[in-house]
Amino acid sequence: MAASGALEAATLIELPRASYVHDFTATERHIILVLQPWIQERFVAPLAAGFAWRPELGTQVLVIDKADLGKRRTFETDPFFVFHMGDAWEETDGTIRFDLCADPDASFAVEGGAALINGRRPAALARPELRLISLHPDGRCGVEKSGLVAEFPKADPRFAGLGRGQTVCAGSGQGDNPLFQSLAVRDWKRDRVDSFDFGPRQPVEEALFVPRPGSTEEFDGWLLGASINLDARASELHVFDARRVSAGPVCSWRADVALPISLHGAFKGA
Ligand SMILES: [Fe+2]
Repeated sequence: MAASGALEAATLIELPRASYVHDFTATERHIILVLQPWIQERFVAPLAAGFAWRPELGTQVLVIDKADLGKRRTFETDPFFVFHMGDAWEETDGTIRFDLCADPDASFAVEGGAALINGRRPAALARPELRLISLHPDGRCGVEKSGLVAEFPKADPRFAGLGRGQTVCAGSGQGDNPLFQSLAVRDWKRDRVDSFDFGPRQPVEEALFVPRPGSTEEFDGWLLGASINLDARASELHVFDARRVSAGPVCSWRADVALPISLHGAFKGA
């Protein structure tokens, strides 16, 4: 893209399989596509009905050189289903790392999401796990499991493309809530999770990070997260100290309306 926003050049990238691609990530030098074994085999409506779960194919991670799109490496790992990925970075020895939330299969995409939209309880709850993926120069793909059931992995955006140790997510909690109900910060280096559970009567959306002015350390600032309080029948907005999430919100507002619970969080420009 030109600085003006005009398109200067575009190239189609041929993929080895027609995986469902919801998200991607990148380092300074590479584009990273996770090609899960949920493969589009037919064009039908609804779109999800045309995909087939083919676990025998495993999951592939495709690493494409931004400077030369023909230069690619493919990493192979066990099958998992994925919607969202966090920011990636490359270490000095060439190892690429990024995080994602992996489901054991595509059942939420096939059945669970449609059930929720139609006001039904899904037959099986989505149980995505936050994982750290390491793509090693020798071709190995390492998967570090956190044990944290969560979605919407996000890094401190000031560390995009840089080595980092933490990930914020919307997490599950006590009870069998089909939605997320906690805010969780995973610390990969200390093998720790700092989280706050709103309880099953208060589903949450993806939180946003706001840096403390002048700060440079990872997650030194605040996390802003919206929820819907089912008992108060109202939407709420909460502010957490991002490095002391388990202490609970430092500030909460309650709206005089209940907005439908959603998924992603984003700031809207004025
Ligand atoms: Fe999404």
